[in-house]
Amino acid sequence: ATLARFVDPLPVPPIAWPAGRRTHPAYPGRMLPYYRMEMRAFSARLHRDLPPTPLWGYDGRSPGPTFETVRGEPLLIEWVNAPPTKHFLPIDHNIHGAERSKPAVRAVTHVHGARVPASSDGWPEDWFVPGHSALLHYPGAQDAASLWYHDHAMGITRLNVYAGLFGAFNVRDAEEQALGLPTGDCDLPLILCDRLIAQDGQLYYPASDDPSAPWVSECRGNAVLCNGKLYPYFEVEPRRYRLRLINVANTSFFDLSLSQGHVFQQVGSDQGLLDAPLQRSRIELYPAERADVVVDFTGMAGQAIHLRQQSAEILEFRVRDRGRHDASVLPATLRPVPRMDPAIAVRDRMLTVGEQDDASGNPMMMTLGGKMWSDPITEKPKQNTIETWSFVNLTGDAHPIHLHLVRFQVIDRRPFDLFAWNAHRIVKYTGPAQLPPPHEAGWKDTVRADPGMVTRIAMRFEGEPGRYVWHCHYLEHEDNEMMRPYELLPS
Ligand code: C2O
Ligand code: CU
Repeated sequence: ATLARFVDPLPVPPIAWPAGRRTHPAYPGRMLPYYRMEMRAFSARLHRDLPPTPLWGYDGRSPGPTFETVRGEPLLIEWVNAPPTKHFLPIDHNIHGAERSKPAVRAVTHVHGARVPASSDGWPEDWFVPGHSALLHYPGAQDAASLWYHDHAMGITRLNVYAGLFGAFNVRDAEEQALGLPTGDCDLPLILCDRLIAQDGQLYYPASDDPSAPWVSECRGNAVLCNGKLYPYFEVEPRRYRLRLINVANTSFFDLSLSQGHVFQQVGSDQGLLDAPLQRSRIELYPAERADVVVDFTGMAGQAIHLRQQSAEILEFRVRDRGRHDASVLPATLRPVPRMDPAIAVRDRMLTVGEQDDASGNPMMMTLGGKMWSDPITEKPKQNTIETWSFVNLTGDAHPIHLHLVRFQVIDRRPFDLFAWNAHRIVKYTGPAQLPPPHEAGWKDTVRADPGMVTRIAMRFEGEPGRYVWHCHYLEHEDNEMMRPYELLPS
C-alpha cells in the first residue's frame, strides 16, 4: 500500500535545555551549563497511517533535542544510558568489539565535528551499559558550524544510530550572528536518513544470508525520514529560511533538489560558513556531510514546493502568508576561508581505503591503510602542525572519510592506476589533479574519497594531545574495521 503524502507536520526537534549549572575541574572558577541527556527506548509514529515504531532516542525522541551552543562557551553533558538491556537489532558477534562476551546494549556519544579533548570525544571502546552515564565536557573552541551528535559504540554504531540515536548540535558565534541570516523559527535542522520500514511500522535492519554472521556491507532503506517523519509537510512563510541539511543515514547518499526549479543558496558546509553564498540547484550529501542552505520563499504564498531526493518527494513546504516581515538578509560574502597551501605540510600520509572479499567476492571487512582497528597506531601527528593525508581508494565505491577533532580542506582528487598499485604498490597518476568544486572549498570534516582517485586533504592538528579516531562514515564499514585510532602528540 502507498502511504498518503504530506499529512504529518514536520517535527522540529526541541532545543536542549540545561538541567542546571555546575563546576568542572577543567574550567576552574566557572559555572557551566549542565545538560543531562538520557538515551531511552520509546515508540513514535513515523507516519499518520503507520502503527507506532519502537525506536531509541536521546531524551526519548529521534532526532534528539538540538543543542544550541556558542563559541567560547563551554558546556557539560551527562550522557545517560537508559534503554532496556536487550538490543532489538541484529548484532554480529564476529565483529571486533561486539563479541558475545560484550553486553548487547552499550552506548557512547560522539559530537561529530566538535573540537574536544580526547577524554570527551566518545572513544568507541569507552561505552557504558544501561544504568551508567558519562559526563563529558565541550570547550566550544571553534567557529560556528552545524555539528551533530550520535552514538559511537564499538562494533554496533550502525545499529545504535539506526535505532535513532542522533541529533543536531549547533555552534554559533558573533561573526555569523552579525551576518543577518534567518534566525529563530526560520533556522532549523532537516535531519535526513533512510530506513527499511515494514507494513506494521517496524524498523528492519538488513541481514546477510548467514544467520551466524548477519553483517552487511551496506544498508539501504525503502523510505526517507525527515526529522523522524515520512513525507511530512512544513508550513513556511513567504520569506527566507535557513535549513541545516544533515545526512545521518548509515550508507545512503542524498541528491537533493527543490521542485519547480527553485534553488538553494548554500552558506555553509560541514565545519561552517563558506566564503560566499553559492547558488545550487542540487545538493549531494554523503553520510555525515552537512549543507547549510538558505531557501527564499518570498512571493510564493499559496504554493507548495517539494524537497526531493532524486525524483522522490520527501518534504512539502507549504507557503502561507502570516503577515510577518522578513528582516533577514543574504550577504554577498560570509567568512573568508583562507586556502591552505599543501606545500607547508610537514608530511603527507598515503593511506589506502580498501576492502577484503571472501572467496565468492562478497566484502568481508573494510580497512584503512591496510590495518585493522587493533593494530598499533601508525598516524601520530604533532600538535599544531599541518599535514596532508592522501586517501588512495582501491575499492569500486566512494567512501566518506571522517577525522575526529580537526577541520580540513579538500586539496584535490587525482586519478591513479590501480593496476600499478596492485603490482608494485606505487601511486602512478593517470591524469591531472582536480580541484574541489566551490561547495567543497570550505571547511570540512568528512570527505568523499572517490573510487580510482587519490583524495588529498590538509589540516592543522589543533587540539589537546591524546587518542582520537578516523574512519569511513558508512556505518557498516566503520563497524567492520574501517576505523583507525590516531594519536595527537604534544608539540
Ligand atoms: Cu560522525 Cu566518528 O563520527
Ligand atoms: Cu567505507
